[in-house]
Amino acid sequence: MHRIAVIPGDGTGPEVVREGLKVLEAVAATTGFDFETREFDYGGDRWLAKGETLPEGAVDELKEFKAIYLGAIGHPDVKPGILEQGILLRLRFDLDQYINLRPVKLYPGVDCPLKDKGPEDIDMVVVRENTEGLYVGSGGFTRKGTAQEIAIQESVNTRMGVERCIRYAFEACRERDKDRKLTLCGKTNVLTYAWDLWERTFNEVGKEYPTISTDYAHVDATCMWMVKNPEWFDVIVTDNMFGDIITDLGAMIQGGMGIAAGGNINPAGTSMFEPIGGSAPKYTGKNVINPLAAIAAVQMMLDFLGEKKAATLIEDAIIRALGSGEIPSLSAGKMGMGTDEVGDLIAKYVREGS
Ligand code: IPM
Ligand code: MN
Repeated sequence: MHRIAVIPGDGTGPEVVREGLKVLEAVAATTGFDFETREFDYGGDRWLAKGETLPEGAVDELKEFKAIYLGAIGHPDVKPGILEQGILLRLRFDLDQYINLRPVKLYPGVDCPLKDKGPEDIDMVVVRENTEGLYVGSGGFTRKGTAQEIAIQESVNTRMGVERCIRYAFEACRERDKDRKLTLCGKTNVLTYAWDLWERTFNEVGKEYPTISTDYAHVDATCMWMVKNPEWFDVIVTDNMFGDIITDLGAMIQGGMGIAAGGNINPAGTSMFEPIGGSAPKYTGKNVINPLAAIAAVQMMLDFLGEKKAATLIEDAIIRALGSGEIPSLSAGKMGMGTDEVGDLIAKYVREGS
C-alpha cells in the first residue's frame, strides 16, 4: 500500500493534479497495486486566509508518507518569495530531498524548437543538488537602504552535500545505462572555491565507477551544447542554482513546460514529485492547461516507489498519445482538447497497454 500526500497547490495545480491522480488510479487498477492519498491545502489561498504557509507539525506529518505529489506553488496575490520559501524550499530542505532529478526527453510527435534534432538526440537527465548552494539563504545586508548598501548572498557547499549528490548521479547514470557518461556542469574558472570542491569530489568518487566516463562543462557552455549538441549529454550533475537554470532550458528543448516533470528525492525518506512549470494562474479553471507534466510526475513517483511496470505503462501511454499526433501542441489552449480529455486519453492508453 502506497500512501501518497497530495498538495494540489495554486493556480492550475489542482487541475493538472486531478488528471495525474486519474492516471494513477488507472495504472493502479491495471497493474494491481494499492494506494491511498491524503490531500493538504498548502498554498497561496491558505496563506491569504490564515497568514500561514506550512502549519506547525506539517513537516512531521508529511514524513509519514513516502511520496508527496505536488501541483504548483505560486499565487498572483502573494508577494514573490513567501510561498516559494515557506512551502516549496522548506519541504525540500526539511525533508532533506537532496536530489532534484529532472529528465529531459523529447518524445516522438513533439515539436522541437531545435531544427534537425529529434527524439534520438534529446534524452538526458539532470541531477540537481537540491538543499545547498545559493538556496540556503545565507548572507545579509549591511547599510540597507543607503547608498553604501551591501548585499551578500553566499553559496554554501559542503563536502557531505556535494558528495552524496555526485554519488547519486553516478548511480543514476549506471542504472540508466544509456551512454554511461556523467558530465559535471560547473564554473571552475570563476567560482574557484565551490567548484574546486565539486571537481575534487567528482574526480574522487568517479574512481569508484570505472565503467562510467566523465566529462566537465562550464555552465554557460552547457547551455550552448544543450541547444547545439544535446546528444552529447546522458546524465548531468550540477549545483542547485545552475540546475535550476539549465533545467528550464531543458524543459524548452523537450517541448516546453507542458511536459517537463521533476522529482525532489530523498532516497531514504519522503520524496516529492511535481510538474516543473509554475502555477500558470492566468489559465486557472479554464481546462486548457497541459496535464502531461503532472502525469509524467506520477510516472517518476511510481518509478521511485518501485512500481516499475506502472511507470513504464504511463510513459508508453504518453508516447502513444504524442506519437500519434492526437495532441497537436503541448501549449496551454492549443492542445486540441481539454485538460481533462488529455487525462482521459492517457488513462485509457494505460488500461489498453497492460
Ligand atoms: C524550480 C523553481 C523553484 C526553484 C522556485 C519556485 C523556488 O523554479 O523548482 O525550479 O528555483 O527551485
Ligand atoms: Mn526553476
